[in-house]
Order: sequence, then C-alpha cells, then structure tokens
Amino acid sequence: MGIRNIILEGDPVLYKKCRVVEKFDDRLSNLIDDMIETMNKAGGVGLAAPQVGMLKRVVVINVGDGNIELVNPIITDSSGEQREEEGCLSCPGQYATTIRPMFVTVEAFDRFGKKVKYTGKALKARAFCHEIDHLDGILFKSRTV
Ligand code: NI
Repeated sequence: MGIRNIILEGDPVLYKKCRVVEKFDDRLSNLIDDMIETMNKAGGVGLAAPQVGMLKRVVVINVGDGNIELVNPIITDSSGEQREEEGCLSCPGQYATTIRPMFVTVEAFDRFGKKVKYTGKALKARAFCHEIDHLDGILFKSRTV
C-alpha cells in the first residue's frame, strides 16, 4: 500500500479499455487509497487506475476542494465548451490545448458501492473528461485542437 508507480505514455496498458468493477471489497478500497496518495504526491488533479497498471474503471480527482473517488463513472450530462491547456501525469512535461465541455455531470459509485453524482465546471469538468477517457484507453493528446 502507499504510493504506486505512474505508468508513462507508450506502455500498452494506457491504451486499453478498462473493466467494470463488480466487487466493492478491500482490494478496491486499497487501490483507491493508493491512487489518492499517488495523485496528491505527484501534484496531479486526477488519476485513473490504468495509470497505476490496473485495468479497472476507477478514477480519483482533486482539483483543490477535496478528493473525489469514482467507480464505474459515466458522464450523464455535459454542456458548453472550454479550450484550455491540459497535461497528464503519464506524459510529463507535455501540454496541449484540448476542447472539453464547460459543465459535466458524472454518475458513479463510491468504494462501498453507493451511488454518487457530481457536477463539475471548468477545471473539474475537464478532469472528469480526461480521467474517464483514460478508462477507455484515450490520452488527452487525441483531444487536442
Ligand atoms: Ni491523464
């Protein structure tokens, strides 16, 4: 448990579709704790499970107002548009402008299997989109302007 290695661009694990989580057990809880610790240590605003080598639909986000954990997240609503510079912990030192919605609503489960729903604007909306893309093997570079 603790900090996990962040997998870098080029590793095949980053380009695969992740599996739906079916067991809300201690292993999932440990994974989420480790992902939060790894994200915060690295100074990132989000981290997806494939970035630590786990092909599971799990994402953590912290844009400065607390940790959010999303298991099996689905974007259920989005609106507006933003064009901002984006980066990724798996692509150190690389930044590019992407097009993302300005508002995003996400429905998911927490580590205990309880349904959760979040709405994000600006950076948080971008983080939701960026991290959920990771679960489908998509890196931000394919969303560039
Ligand atoms: Ni990323």
